[in-house]
Amino acid sequence: MHLLITGNTGFIGPVMTRMAKERGHKVTGLDVGYFKDCIVDPAMDCPPDHQILRDIREVKAEDLKGIDAIIHLAGLSNDPLGALNPQLTYDINLDSTVRLGQLAKDNGVQRFVFASSCSIYGAAHGSDAALDESAPFNPVSAYAVSKVRSEEGLSPLADKDFCPVFMRNATAYGVSARTRMDLVVNNLAGWAYTAGVIKVMSDGTPWRPLVHIEDISLAALCAAEAPTDVVHNQAFNIGRNDANYQVMDIANAVHKRFPDAKLEITGETGGDARSYRVNFDKALGGLPGFAPKWTVEMGADEVANWLRSNGLRDQAFDGRLFIRLKQLKHQMEQGLLDGDLRVVRGRSL
Ligand SMILES: NC(=O)c1ccc[n+]([C@@H]2O[C@H](COP(=O)([O-])OP(=O)(O)OC[C@H]3O[C@@H](n4cnc5c(N)ncnc54)[C@H](O)[C@@H]3O)[C@@H](O)[C@H]2O)c1
Repeated sequence: MHLLITGNTGFIGPVMTRMAKERGHKVTGLDVGYFKDCIVDPAMDCPPDHQILRDIREVKAEDLKGIDAIIHLAGLSNDPLGALNPQLTYDINLDSTVRLGQLAKDNGVQRFVFASSCSIYGAAHGSDAALDESAPFNPVSAYAVSKVRSEEGLSPLADKDFCPVFMRNATAYGVSARTRMDLVVNNLAGWAYTAGVIKVMSDGTPWRPLVHIEDISLAALCAAEAPTDVVHNQAFNIGRNDANYQVMDIANAVHKRFPDAKLEITGETGGDARSYRVNFDKALGGLPGFAPKWTVEMGADEVANWLRSNGLRDQAFDGRLFIRLKQLKHQMEQGLLDGDLRVVRGRSL
């Protein structure tokens, strides 16, 4: 198959591109390139067969020529970026997603695999049950709202010629050419290594479902390859049932890898209202070929080894190499991006 992976120069993209190529697919990547230079380990990068450097808000029909399936990762990918300017999150994550879906349909691209998120379940306090795909949405950020509305915007496009699939990914962890450090496992390990402290900014009780980026990539590729009738206009929670963790237990798993680090549970409440446990039975039983390989213990080892082998310092860890918001602000200060995060005419990232 010829796959278009949008957002390929981010965290998950390089891993997904490598796995897609290993499965024999041809890959075109499309990304504006906000983070393309935020590379720690170039040997881990996996360029696609063809790269389109373009803002997702400006995708053209010709970009889709010869494409069999789109895996759509591009977007502002976390809550602080959403808080920067909620309207931008809606423009980039929602309007461009629905527009890309329509463009795909109009140009004969039948399969559209969308990177949604378990964060659409948001604050699920009061319910003990793990949430399946029929659970009500309760998004608590512009980012999560953009994912809910993107699903709602893509779903009506489904017909015999267009098959959208919604991957509701758990919170990712793991190492890539562009490792993100704002995600809980990576973040706690990063602080343990660089500052010698594992700081849990809550009472440690909130639940988070976790999944490795290779397992997210595997699921998306399985969704791109599956027979239409099994995935048509379906949502799948992506993760594993034994990886719903309370933040305190994630901190303890990290602590095992950095026993000299100080473990601090601040007991704060209020900042992040998310807490949810998720049921992954549907994808585990119904998405052909999907069998997650990674446990959180394996992932914590991977991140710890990666931190040690790269000898990261705290200036780097707290800088624009890892903090997406700082990188975007830097590019704005350099006059490369305007206030709408569009590349300034005549400049390139
Ligand atoms: N990492 C997670 O925990 C997680 C969990 C659930 C869902 N997801 C979703 O998976 C996708 C990929 O996540 P990630 O962690 O790799 O994020 P990331 O921030 O590392 O990568 C996103 C990519 O999208 C690109 N992008 C952003 N705005 C763009 C625009 N206007 N035009 C073109 N490209 C643009 C960025 O340059 C970046 O390369 C996102 O949609 C995210 O919401 C991630």
